[in-house]
Amino acid sequence: MARFEDKHPELIARLTQAAHVAVFTGAGVSAESGIPTFRDEEGLWQKYEPQELATMEAFLNQPEVVQAWYKHRRAIIHEKKPNPAHHALAQLEPFFQEFAVITQNVDNLHQEAGSKNVIELHGSILRNYCVDCKQEAAEQTLNQMAEGQPVQCPKCKGLIRPDVVWFGESLPQGAFEKASQIVCQADVLLSIGTSAVVFPAAQLPITAKEHGAYLAEINIERSDLSPFVDETILGKAGEILPDLTAAVSKRISATNN
Ligand code: OAD
Repeated sequence: MARFEDKHPELIARLTQAAHVAVFTGAGVSAESGIPTFRDEEGLWQKYEPQELATMEAFLNQPEVVQAWYKHRRAIIHEKKPNPAHHALAQLEPFFQEFAVITQNVDNLHQEAGSKNVIELHGSILRNYCVDCKQEAAEQTLNQMAEGQPVQCPKCKGLIRPDVVWFGESLPQGAFEKASQIVCQADVLLSIGTSAVVFPAAQLPITAKEHGAYLAEINIERSDLSPFVDETILGKAGEILPDLTAAVSKRISATNN
C-alpha cells in the first residue's frame, strides 16, 4: 500500500516547511470517540430540533428541558476518551513554531489528548454559568436537578446555562478574533471533520486560503468547503491523522539530521 507521503506529497512538503500551522476541527474529529455529530445520518440535528434546544428562547421557555438535554450530553462526553485523531494532533504540535487547534467542538477532547493551544469557538459543555450574576456553576449543582425543576444559581437564583454558543449568539469574546489572526498567518490549514456550514466559524479556512495558506481537508465525504481546498483527503480522521503525523515526524527528523 502507498505510504501517506507518496499519496500526499504536496501536503507533506508544505507541512515540513511550515512555521505556522492551524487546524480547524468539527464534530467528525470526535465521532470515533463515540460522540454523535450534528448533521450526519445519526447526527443530533437529525433527531432533535435545534430551535427547541440550542437557542436562548428555548432555554427561557423550558429551562429544565434544555438543562436536561445538556446534562445528558455531558454524561455521554464524560464517558468518552480522545481517539487517535486527537492524539495525532497533540503529537503534531511540537514540530511547529506555532500550532493552534481552532475547534467548534465543546467536548474538551483536544485538551485531554494533550493539545496545548486550543481555541474553543463554540465554548465548552463542561462549563456552566448563571445567566444573571455570570458566576460559574459547579457541575455538582447541575446534577442536583429535581425532576421537572430548572436548576438555579445557589447565589442569586438565576438560571444556570451551559457555556456553549447557541444559534443567534455571538462567539465567545476574543475567540474568533484570535482565530482570525492565527489563520491569516498560517502556512497550512487542516480542516478536519466539519461540514463547514456554520458561520462565522466556517469562514476561517477560507480566510486562511485567501492569505496564502495551503488548505487541506480531511473528511469521510466532501463538504461545503471542498470546492475551495487544495486537497481533500477522504477517510476517517482517526485513521488518516496518525499516518499524517508519522509522515511529518519522519520527514522533519530526516531533514534535521
Ligand atoms: P457536522 O455534524 O455538521 O459535521 C460533521 C462532519 O464530520 C461531516 O462533514 C462528516 O462527514 C464528518 N465526519 C463524520 N465522521 C468523521 C470521521 N470519523 N472522520 C472525519 N470526518 C468525519 O458538525 P460540525 O461541522 O462540527 O454548533 O458542526 C458545526 C457546528 O454546528 C457545531 O459546532 C454546532 C452545530 O450546530 C454549535 O453548537 C454552536
